[in-house]
Amino acid sequence: MNTVDLRSDTVTLPTDSMRQAIVSADLGDDVFEEDPTINDLEEKAAALFGKEAALIVPSGTMANLVSVLAHCDRGTEVILGDKAHTYMYEAGGIAAFGGVHPRTLKNFDDGTIDPDEIQEAVRPDNVHFPQTALIGLENSHNVCHGSPLTKTYIDEIVAIGEENKLPVHIDGARIFNAAVALETTVKDLTENVTSVSFCLSKGLSCPVGSVVCGSAKFIAKTRRIRKGLGGGMRQAGVLAAAGIVALDEMIERLKTDHANARRLAEGIDAIDGLMVRLDLVKTNIVYVELVNNTRNPDQVVAAMKDKGVKFFAVGPHRLRMVTNSGVEAEGIDHTLEELSLYFASSS
Ligand SMILES: Cc1ncc(COP(=O)(O)O)c(C=O)c1O
Repeated sequence: MNTVDLRSDTVTLPTDSMRQAIVSADLGDDVFEEDPTINDLEEKAAALFGKEAALIVPSGTMANLVSVLAHCDRGTEVILGDKAHTYMYEAGGIAAFGGVHPRTLKNFDDGTIDPDEIQEAVRPDNVHFPQTALIGLENSHNVCHGSPLTKTYIDEIVAIGEENKLPVHIDGARIFNAAVALETTVKDLTENVTSVSFCLSKGLSCPVGSVVCGSAKFIAKTRRIRKGLGGGMRQAGVLAAAGIVALDEMIERLKTDHANARRLAEGIDAIDGLMVRLDLVKTNIVYVELVNNTRNPDQVVAAMKDKGVKFFAVGPHRLRMVTNSGVEAEGIDHTLEELSLYFASSS
């Protein structure tokens, strides 16, 4: 049995058709906007999300960074969840490089923020306060159990944005997971938001790349910021070629990842000493709580690594597992078998 790698969906490797597309891609200099494969990917992404334009960037972190910097002047404020990836795991980039002040509000387990709290957090016009410039959401929400945000919820936040003349950006690193789980399209979820970013290199299995979508004017601004951050790439059609294959061929696969996550979650929840919030498992991320047990997460991680199963400890009593295209049904069986044996022997 090969290693079952559940650490993240970022560990996915490019498919054979991606590798072939990479080898035969038409290339040019993308800083001059002359790479035909990049232009194709950006047009395809913009159409998929119902936006005027799109821009490829090296990572999800840079996608969020160029978006926040394009929306917010220095010293202004972005309202976002206290468990948002942009707030927690992007090296404080929005503050470090953009001078943008994060105003965090509580994220609930389903990834939402209370709309009333968002309304109340919008700053009045007063010289004492930073001016609110942006509302940020995350869909699906990584730390909040991979929860997908519904169109109804997103549009409620967009309405608050409109009332206060504020744009709304979605960190959609895993928005295709959200759309698949909600049985809708990414266009439906994001038609009313100002901008959205998504990752090619997570569940969609590309080696590198993320894309930002929005109005032509917004994308022109992100293009300039990307260059300033050192993210202008030259013959990066090699990356875009894999991205086009991902959008054509890999969205369907997410259904299997979600089914695997569900089976993994149910199997784990049945093991004495482990608990999963099954009501919250809707996409490819499974958080596991250690209950009534003397083992700590690091010990579990180490023991399972020896049995060929990898995942992360993400807190004093918590593990995280992320299903992905590198894990098939047998990998889930193997994981459940090894965890059952381990907890039977250690309880
Ligand atoms: C929700 C979310 N946004 C953004 C990112 C950043 O992506 P990258 O690792 O490509 O910078 C991640 C990475 O896991 C993520 O989970």
